[in-house]
Amino acid sequence: MRFPGRFTGRSAVITGGASGIGLAVAQRIVEEGGRVCVWDRDPAQIEQAKATIAGLHGVTLDVADPAAVEDAARQTIKALGAVDILVTSAAITGPNMTTWEYSTDDWRQVIDININGVFYCNRALVPHMLERNYGRIVNIASIAGKEGNPNASAYSTSKAAVIGMTKSLGKELAKTRVTVNCVTPAAVRTAIFNQMSQQHIDFMLSKIPMARFGEVEEVAALISWITSEECSFTTAAVFDVSGGRATY
Ligand SMILES: NC(=O)c1ccc[n+]([C@@H]2O[C@H](COP(=O)([O-])OP(=O)(O)OC[C@H]3O[C@@H](n4cnc5c(N)ncnc54)[C@H](O)[C@@H]3O)[C@@H](O)[C@H]2O)c1
Repeated sequence: MRFPGRFTGRSAVITGGASGIGLAVAQRIVEEGGRVCVWDRDPAQIEQAKATIAGLHGVTLDVADPAAVEDAARQTIKALGAVDILVTSAAITGPNMTTWEYSTDDWRQVIDININGVFYCNRALVPHMLERNYGRIVNIASIAGKEGNPNASAYSTSKAAVIGMTKSLGKELAKTRVTVNCVTPAAVRTAIFNQMSQQHIDFMLSKIPMARFGEVEEVAALISWITSEECSFTTAAVFDVSGGRATY
């Protein structure tokens, strides 16, 4: 189902929007009348996304580079005129191994992209949204951040941090028309699976009561509602999309 015109006059930035869940959100916002700029580190994927989504803008950057994020924010505001919506989807899993086996470099990379990157992107666009007194931010966390998956401690830690950051920022902005929420998907088959062991993928599926993976369109459907004007009395919240896995 689509809601034609829901995003007419709205512009969105989607980090990690060249693939998977972010790409599905980009597609949906454009189909419902909005303009989208994807921020992604993979230029080939951005080009592929542009070829399939009419009018899509793209910036190649590493979200873990704060100067690049500030530059992209300036560039995107200039190109689109404004940014009303931010969806932070860019993330990596890190290797699947026990906490004590983790190398410092692997740990830092996950933290740098999954936590610091989300911070840099929120920080870069909130002042602009405040100036316009309108904004919808959705940070993509994970059920791993609530439950702590074994053999994925850096990832689980990073996603718990995204939940905490979302709640803090949402409360800071609660008296404005800028809302900040996060979603916590369970496993959805995307390119991110290539970073995980088969054993870990099987473990994630075994934890889902619906006994199937989620679809990117199912996550995009939820995010498109949260990023719409209609979702106006919910902020600093965590939306479940886990096929029944989440118990809180
Ligand atoms: N797919 C799942 O099972 C699942 C489950 C729970 C949460 N999530 C979360 O959903 C989000 C999207 O995941 P996905 O499944 O679509 O993955 P994906 O790998 O398909 O997409 C992630 C995108 O982020 C980009 N990216 C990675 N690091 C980046 C960086 N440093 N700078 C800029 N771009 C970068 C990649 O190039 C890619 O296009 C992530 O935050 C992920 O943690 C996914």
